[in-house]
Amino acid sequence: MSNNIESVLQEDRVFKPTEAFKKQANITEEKYQQLKKKASEDYEGFWSDLAKEKLSWSKDFTVGLDDSNPPFYKWFSDGELNASYNCIDRHLAEKEDKLAIIFEADDGSVEQYTYKDLHDEVCRLANALTAQGVEKGDRVVIYMPMIPQAVFAMQACARIGAIHSIVFGGFSAEALRDRIEDAGAKMVITANAGRRGGKSVPLKGAVDEALEKGGDSVRKVIVYKRTDDDVKMKDDRDISWHDAVAGMSNYHDAVMVNAEHPLFLLYTSGSTGKPKGIQHSTGGYLLNAHLTNEWVFDLKDSDVFWCTADVGWITGHTYVAYGPLSMGMTMLMFEGVPTYPDAGRFWQICQDHGVTVFYTAPTAIRALMKFGDDLPKQYDLSKLRLLGTVGEPINPEAWMWYHEVIGRGECPIMDTWWQTETGAHMIAPIPGVTDLKPGSCTKPLPGIDAHIVDEEGKELTHGEGGYLVIRKPWPSMVRTIWGDDERFVDTYFAMFKNKYYVVGDSAHLDTDGNFWIMGRIDDVLNVSGHRLGTMEIESALVSHEKVAEAAVVGKPHDVKGESVFAFVVLNQEIPEGDARLALVQELRNHVAKEIGPIAKPDDIRFGSNLPKTRSGKIMRRLLRSIAKGEEITSDTSTLEDPSILDQFMQPNK
Ligand code: WT7
Repeated sequence: MSNNIESVLQEDRVFKPTEAFKKQANITEEKYQQLKKKASEDYEGFWSDLAKEKLSWSKDFTVGLDDSNPPFYKWFSDGELNASYNCIDRHLAEKEDKLAIIFEADDGSVEQYTYKDLHDEVCRLANALTAQGVEKGDRVVIYMPMIPQAVFAMQACARIGAIHSIVFGGFSAEALRDRIEDAGAKMVITANAGRRGGKSVPLKGAVDEALEKGGDSVRKVIVYKRTDDDVKMKDDRDISWHDAVAGMSNYHDAVMVNAEHPLFLLYTSGSTGKPKGIQHSTGGYLLNAHLTNEWVFDLKDSDVFWCTADVGWITGHTYVAYGPLSMGMTMLMFEGVPTYPDAGRFWQICQDHGVTVFYTAPTAIRALMKFGDDLPKQYDLSKLRLLGTVGEPINPEAWMWYHEVIGRGECPIMDTWWQTETGAHMIAPIPGVTDLKPGSCTKPLPGIDAHIVDEEGKELTHGEGGYLVIRKPWPSMVRTIWGDDERFVDTYFAMFKNKYYVVGDSAHLDTDGNFWIMGRIDDVLNVSGHRLGTMEIESALVSHEKVAEAAVVGKPHDVKGESVFAFVVLNQEIPEGDARLALVQELRNHVAKEIGPIAKPDDIRFGSNLPKTRSGKIMRRLLRSIAKGEEITSDTSTLEDPSILDQFMQPNK
């Protein structure tokens, strides 16, 4: 990370919007100034006007922001609407035959769904969910591969006012059970398996395992048969998707809900304890989802938009399932992996479907960059007109490669900073307006009141690093942590006594007012753009019978950003040779079983005790140095037993 920050700090290249781009941009300089002016003069009116203009309401709201009970803010709270109606029905009169979804499967086969097709699929499923006893406010866990049916399921839930909670298909049965139980889900929607990289990835088995030892709230499991793999069905509980929708009408009257009605929960890692169920609203969330696709991605009717994120993450909610559809655009979904059948797959898809706007993560760019320029050059990428990135700071080298090799030196790069909790982009360029600097997410969007402050909450100007905070509530902000209002307040607002939403990142400003994100300030790792709590991984390790104690830190990694490095104390003697290597494997697999393969430590080291101060605090700073292979130069005199550092420095042989 430190190398990265240094190269970022020295970055002084500036990329101005081209005249050609400016001419066709959704947001021109003039419009941008108007938006900013309105936001600063009449904040509530700014968002209210946009909510009226961009969304369709069945009952108009009269209140914009309700801040009577901070930090529990409400937006448009006496209005009513339906997210699925906004994403589908309202486009039908003019765009029935326009493509909503282009889907390319792992094996290269393609399916297309028009807005009318999407409507029919979603309505049939919505009717099926109702027939299976799902009601407004019930929670439905979705555990699906990256296929259009995942979006149908989300939209069908939204349509009947049920609250969906997607669990990424890469999470284990244990992780799935925790989330099902925390949400109190009544139904699980899954598939027998998915296809990735030419192989089947089983899913239904994990649902069975999760429900064997818990998840008692679940009444029904709907199973989509995606592959030819066998699937065991449990009588009374399981029903195939096919049977559930058979005979269902393609007409469904969307259930209008209050703007504050939860649209979905999405679990994400924090620095302490179990994952948090981030609760999003219907009206406020949809507004920012819609606006950011219009402002930042400059989406237009003629575009083919591809966001590579899985629907299991927030990016797949806002920039696959809701935002582009709310705008009535064509979006692409891809089931597979970027390296199958070879590392040209992304570029082949961009070429074959004429993708115009492409959004992915720095880790994918860095991974594909390693294969050189020849692969992308084999494909016609001339339709691309805008590129985006998200998930972690992008190093200037990767930014330049993306811009030059993928974007022909013409496509602006939108480095978008946001989080599961913010619902949509917060700090990001407006492509026809903002000057770009490789490695900076540039400036807060109109209406987003972002600042950098020191420990006392004093605002910092350029140069100094500090806490990134948001002062004014915005429409798509997290409403609470599901079932835990107290944790919500503690996590995001307690630090500065409700004055700011505290993001959890550190950042600094340059003299042009650009934001540079430096990294997390808490014990959260960012592995390939995925957020992992060190404590979750530590708990997973400690749940293994041979482990007494564990500490996990991040180690800089040139593709993943960070990798997981674990320090383990066993409750038995440290084995030697092959036995030790076997134990390393056993522990890695154990973490995969407890959380999922993404959380597997790359390195595990053993010692007879963790380095602790005399008061018992684990000295993570030292562990980070060991992980990096740095010499320990700092003072270790406060350590209870300095000799254990030598133990942890020994690689496993
Ligand atoms: C954390 C949020 C937002 C969707 C994907 C991750 C980091 C995100 C950027 C960026 C630097 C970034 C932050 C943030 N992050 N985007 N453009 N530049 N850092 O969502 O799992 O909620 O993680 O990802 O640390 O807090 P998430």
